[in-house]
Amino acid sequence: MNSSLVVDVAIAGGGIIGLSLALELRQRGLSVAVMERGHAMSSASWAAGGMLAVNDPQNPLKLLPLCIRSWALYPSYLARIEALSGRPVPLRTQRALQEQKPEGGLGGTATAAEIAELAPGLDPGGHSFAWLDEGSIDPNDLREALPAAVRAAGGTLLEETEVLSVETTGRGIVVETLRERISAGMLVNCCGAWAGGRRLGGVPVEPVKGQMANLRCAPELLRCVVRTAGVYLVPRGDGRVTIGATLEHAGFDETVESSLIRPVIDAALRLLPEASLPSPLDAWAGLRPGTPDDLPILGAAKLENCWHATGHYRDGILLAPVTARVMAQAMLGETPDVSLDAFSPARFGSD
Ligand code: GLY
Repeated sequence: MNSSLVVDVAIAGGGIIGLSLALELRQRGLSVAVMERGHAMSSASWAAGGMLAVNDPQNPLKLLPLCIRSWALYPSYLARIEALSGRPVPLRTQRALQEQKPEGGLGGTATAAEIAELAPGLDPGGHSFAWLDEGSIDPNDLREALPAAVRAAGGTLLEETEVLSVETTGRGIVVETLRERISAGMLVNCCGAWAGGRRLGGVPVEPVKGQMANLRCAPELLRCVVRTAGVYLVPRGDGRVTIGATLEHAGFDETVESSLIRPVIDAALRLLPEASLPSPLDAWAGLRPGTPDDLPILGAAKLENCWHATGHYRDGILLAPVTARVMAQAMLGETPDVSLDAFSPARFGSD
């Protein structure tokens, strides 16, 4: 017989969004159970580049208030995870060189002398760069630390636990898994690229595959993120430089195809000529949760007592702290720090 669990909030999805929300809710005194069909932090949350790209010109303008608020929350977010887990999760870089139009536009153009300070290995080629005050983390640091922090905070994390059915009871929700029956006041869909599943309410989320690779490079040659329209380079400070990424609509396929990652690698090597490509290739793929307007889906679902927090597309790592905060605020009837009007699940008319 299935064991029973009664919690205030059940969260489907043990990636960075679900676990960060679990932490936030625990901080507010609510009991939580996170259900993850595989292993926590093992899909897009781990595969990500980890750039906290607040001012990436490729982001939709409507995302900016969420990005700014999340970046402001990042120091306390990381400090809490570190304190609870006992594991370090440092900012690996604190500045970014963003490609801009030759005539500028993003702020002051980075001079050759400035570039030589933080990125002496960079060959700017024909690109003009502007400095942005943005950080990056290595998602590998969070992979162990965030689940450990949730458990240390008193949250229940159920791995290899797929949601089989969801039923509303009027007073709450009953979720069936293979081993558990979980009764909760509320259920939140934080399933990333898998959030569009029928059981969870059918929001229009599609996987957008990103292939990534690690180059090797002496750490002193690159100590900031470099981002152009075609490639980004994220140094980890230990000789690895993570580069990415492809943008592919390939369903749930997560295989690496060297013919597709190769042009990204070549673009990175042109920018950082002293870097080398390890053999065998150190490459992987992740599935971003894409939405029709490239904006996240944050808010109440049609189904009573159900919520969505998904669709973070290219910015799930950056947006985790603010998502946890505004979702907790909305779920508890408070006014969110950032208006969620633009992110409502209702904007698609489906759910
Ligand atoms: N956050 C960068 C990417 O999605 O490739």
